[in-house]
Amino acid sequence: MNICVIGTGYVGLVTGAVFADLGNDVICVDNDKEKIELLNKGIMPIYEPGLKEIVQNNVEDRRLTFTTDINKGVRISEIIFICVGTPAKNNGETDISYIEEAAKGIGKALNEYKIIVNKSTVPIGTGDFVREIIEKNKEKDINFDVVSNPEFLREGSAIQDTLAPERIVIGAPTKEVAMKLLELYATLGRPMLITDIYSAEMIKYASNTFLAMKISFINKIANICESTGANISDVTKGIGYDSRIGSSFLNAGLGFGGSCFPKDIKSFLHTAKKFGHDFNLLNSVIEIDNNRATHFMNIIREKIGGFKGKTIGILGLSFKPDTDDMRDAKSIEIIKMMLSEGAKIKAYDPVAIENAKKIIPNIEYAKNSYSAAYKADAIAIITEWREFKLLNMEKIKKEMKRPVIFDGRNIYDPEKMRKTGFEYYSIGRR
Ligand code: UGA
Repeated sequence: MNICVIGTGYVGLVTGAVFADLGNDVICVDNDKEKIELLNKGIMPIYEPGLKEIVQNNVEDRRLTFTTDINKGVRISEIIFICVGTPAKNNGETDISYIEEAAKGIGKALNEYKIIVNKSTVPIGTGDFVREIIEKNKEKDINFDVVSNPEFLREGSAIQDTLAPERIVIGAPTKEVAMKLLELYATLGRPMLITDIYSAEMIKYASNTFLAMKISFINKIANICESTGANISDVTKGIGYDSRIGSSFLNAGLGFGGSCFPKDIKSFLHTAKKFGHDFNLLNSVIEIDNNRATHFMNIIREKIGGFKGKTIGILGLSFKPDTDDMRDAKSIEIIKMMLSEGAKIKAYDPVAIENAKKIIPNIEYAKNSYSAAYKADAIAIITEWREFKLLNMEKIKKEMKRPVIFDGRNIYDPEKMRKTGFEYYSIGRR
């Protein structure tokens, strides 16, 4: 099939590359000229495991091309995916101006019947909006259909999530239109749900806010574990064995960051309010998450006797492992608080340092975990990169001024750490 993907962010680039890999002819459009030039040279704008290889292979095989020309992209394609950013406005509402811009471009270029598929996370009702904008801008009397096909990929495992999604949701106006999308996805052999556009749009928000709720729920339980002496790891296992609860997405820690959960909860609250609903449960989810960094800071401050003049080794900067994405990363908040209280920071992350430097320029960046530990009064684990789990802890201990570890993601076994000679503090465990 001939496919056009508008927007080459995480969702667009991964979607385009995977569709090409499945044998389709894909043209990716972005109005960022520099980005398109880099992509044409095989340079990725983001770090995502496996992405570079899959893009390069498909560019070489001429199934994947990049352009700034939306007109060309739309005209030669049967299906057009909108994968542009939907950032938050100050009041929490979602800014859909990039969607509008894409829809205008599609309208102007419309030369024959097409299916326009929205993959970006958008407020319920955006499908109607896209339809209206295309109608207004189309220059010929040509029919088209709009579909909602929300994306559920996670950064860090985006390729795998796109190749083997747990479900594919297709919100289409008719069965015939849905069939066209089914045909495209059939080769993945994954469960598909066909529904209306509003429900598809709602499924995305309900999924993300539910997942965020799980994280805030377990983090609050972890706080109560700390006060009562219970152990969050055992509690999580104990509740996770109940299949109605499930064991995934219940890792207590510093809470959620990234470009999705914080923004999506606020956007969903805004939509709910617009339709007359107060969704206070979600306000609590945000409130609990907002307190994670302060809570961690309180633990560290108490144990090391204040930050003034102390050197803190920070391990992990990105909002989660396997990505260089620093958007809403907990490291930013924590490092800024530490700096304001007089600490000296030495930070290390396997891939996010370059992006971190743009946001927190005034700290020292270490070349590896051992140099971040050098003469440190304490180490704080902020992101659970796999390589931190495999460190030579004897060596880390020798580097440090005082062997204290504050594990914000519960990646180590407390007993083992203490046996190795560390003072060790984690989340919701003794
Ligand atoms: C999230 C959803 O998981 C995807 O399904 C969705 O497609 C995506 O948002 C999106 O809307 O684009 P992502 O933000 O990439 O994906 O990352 P997650 O793996 O969901 O992690 C989000 C945050 O929650 C991270 O900071 C992570 O460290 C934290 N988290 C996750 C926890 O603190 N505990 C957990 O048990 C799981």
